[in-house]
Amino acid sequence: MLTKYIVQGGKPLFGEVEISGAKNAAVAIIPAALMVDGVCRIENLPQISDVTLCLKIMEQLGAQIRVVNRHTVDVDCRRVHSTKTSYDLARRIRASTYFIGALLGRFGQAEVAMPGGCNLGVRPIDQHVKGFTTLGAKVVVEGGFVRASAVNSRLKGANVYLDVVSVGATMNIMIAAVMAEGNTVIENAAKEPHIVDLANFLNSMGANIRGAGTDTIKIRGVERLQGGSYAIIPDQIEAGTYMAAVAATGGQILIKNIIPKHMDCITAKLVEMGVEVEENEDTLLVRRSGPLQRANVKTMPYPGFPTDMQPQITTVLSLAAGTSLVTESVWNTRYRYVDELKRMGAAIQVDEKTAVVQGVDHLTGAPIQACDLRAGAALVIAALAAQGRSEISCVQYIERGYEDIVSKFRSLGADIRSIDEPDEQDQMTAAYG
Ligand code: EPU
Repeated sequence: MLTKYIVQGGKPLFGEVEISGAKNAAVAIIPAALMVDGVCRIENLPQISDVTLCLKIMEQLGAQIRVVNRHTVDVDCRRVHSTKTSYDLARRIRASTYFIGALLGRFGQAEVAMPGGCNLGVRPIDQHVKGFTTLGAKVVVEGGFVRASAVNSRLKGANVYLDVVSVGATMNIMIAAVMAEGNTVIENAAKEPHIVDLANFLNSMGANIRGAGTDTIKIRGVERLQGGSYAIIPDQIEAGTYMAAVAATGGQILIKNIIPKHMDCITAKLVEMGVEVEENEDTLLVRRSGPLQRANVKTMPYPGFPTDMQPQITTVLSLAAGTSLVTESVWNTRYRYVDELKRMGAAIQVDEKTAVVQGVDHLTGAPIQACDLRAGAALVIAALAAQGRSEISCVQYIERGYEDIVSKFRSLGADIRSIDEPDEQDQMTAAYG
């Protein structure tokens, strides 16, 4: 079956929406639980397919997963019997790289399929490998697997200076170093909220990590992590996506369960565009009643404007008065959705890393196709704002990272529904047995 979203656009959004746990924290914290010698309870897990896949990989390695409720699991890694992940499972997500750091740090060896994930151009792991090697591991790529092993089964603390600010490398090296012998310092580290969250998770299990959230992270190796319980932070990008949606459609929504500080980089840009944002302790009231104004956006590592909000903000700018410039400085290929927006009447020219967005009066509904997670979210926003009916296909990308997106938008008054259609392959199978 193929799932599609059918959207009848042009309705402003009103109501309240609850933000789920952060995907990019969850997909690192789950593998990091391999370091823990005891039962570790993880709360506020988003119910998305990337999390399901990470939990499947854990089970395949021998971890026992007990589902406590929709957003909470108990993970027990005391009986892990394998350091090799299934090729088929691990290659499907980028976050499977974290299994290398966790298995290597805990058991001194790891065999993990080269990671997959959203197609955003070249996604090298040279900085991860540099980190592991500096900590004393031997790393090779063979037969589609990354194989890493530590001399005498234990990594040795060291200083790692990252050549590029990488979220994944920072998290992976941090996980691997937690039980290394001696001290590790990661310099030029990424500072995203999920890096702080991962450090807080590991510290709550007995690790000794300081400086997460700055560009220098110091880790004092410990002998053992014990069980405990930890709640994942709210998803900054999911919250930003709902903010962008109400900016595009107009209306007023209350976004609940957020950390306002994490939202500043997004809030500031939307305010510049004429959106009103009222901040409270853990909520944001977002309103757009007047016209949208043009703005320039450049994506940067945190606390800059997040690349994971670039497609959504470009969609909003496509409806703003005047010409806006968007510069993507993190990924090489993150404008593939623009062709789909053009089908809806957007006027956007892309030249390598820059998109020139000429605001139009309105978009019109069309059959469109998601090409990755955030691109898919951007198309949902476009369809909600557009006049008429849109049909969005390849929504499996969207469901990798957005919990209950259809019902959350419906509760805001949007006319969106999910339908399942047999795909051609299924029909052929049905016809020919
Ligand atoms: N890079 C290297 N070498 C490396 C690693 C990265 O050159 O070894 C480069 C990349 O090519 C890129 C830049 O460094 O140009 C940043 O990459 P980073 O490592 O920070 O990205 P990532 O860890 O692979 C995570 C998120 C992405 C998000 C980026 C940037 C996860 C699972 N993924 O990817 O999220 O775009 O950080 O913030 O945490 C998404 O959620 O939609 C998504 C794609």
